[in-house]
Amino acid sequence: PPFAAIVVAAGKGERARQGVPKQFAFWRGKPVLRHSVDALVESGANPVIVAAPSDMQGEAHAAVGDNPRVEVVAGGATRQASVRHSLDVLAGRGCERVLIHDAARPELMRDVVARLIKALETTAGAIPVLPVVDSLVIASSGAMDGKAEREAIRRVQTPQAFRFSAIHAAHHAWEGAANAGDDAQVLHAAGGSVALVDGDERLRKLTFAEDFMDDLPPMRIGSG
Ligand code: CTP
Ligand code: MG
Repeated sequence: PPFAAIVVAAGKGERARQGVPKQFAFWRGKPVLRHSVDALVESGANPVIVAAPSDMQGEAHAAVGDNPRVEVVAGGATRQASVRHSLDVLAGRGCERVLIHDAARPELMRDVVARLIKALETTAGAIPVLPVVDSLVIASSGAMDGKAEREAIRRVQTPQAFRFSAIHAAHHAWEGAANAGDDAQVLHAAGGSVALVDGDERLRKLTFAEDFMDDLPPMRIGSG
């Protein structure tokens, strides 16, 4: 059976300084947001819910194009609120699985989606992760206070995959004031099991203005 997807695209993208919220900026020929919407549709997601700023619904419709499988809804003041509202929109439609994805990660590969959906056969949640290659220090004081165990740490990406009823209930059970880093934390706090699958470096989040400059060749010391 198909799975649903939520693309959260209701942020302001302030750190990216693109003049418009970064998910609407053009990157490699398309609005940032359009890349992952297209990839999710191609991977079989149905429907794809796009949470966009309430005052930019027209821009969002224009950015995602005309596709009956894609629905634009209003997001909220925080990422969490945008996810929660999108889950509420999906509730009662019989969808058993959902992928939740940041619009700001345009390079979504089909094989990551396949790994996540496969993992959901045996767990309520699954997330793509990558190892840390640098050594890590604890630096609460501003200087080096100690070292951290790199082997125990993973970097977490999106999309994150969930059984719908588990993540929907977990979002409603989450303490309202606390800001969740991501949806896996919300499920984990509610006691759900979260499996790890291999992520992909290309799934990085476009966050800063520099991240939009990578169509240019990299500058290297000594390259002339
Ligand atoms: N997001 C959202 N609703 C919000 C805030 C964020 O849907 N109220 C989405 C963003 O659009 C983005 C994803 O959550 O796709 C990850 O957030 P982040 O990278 O922090 O994006 P912004 O909050 O837009 O950027 P910034 O923090 O630099 O303003
Ligand atoms: Mg933000």
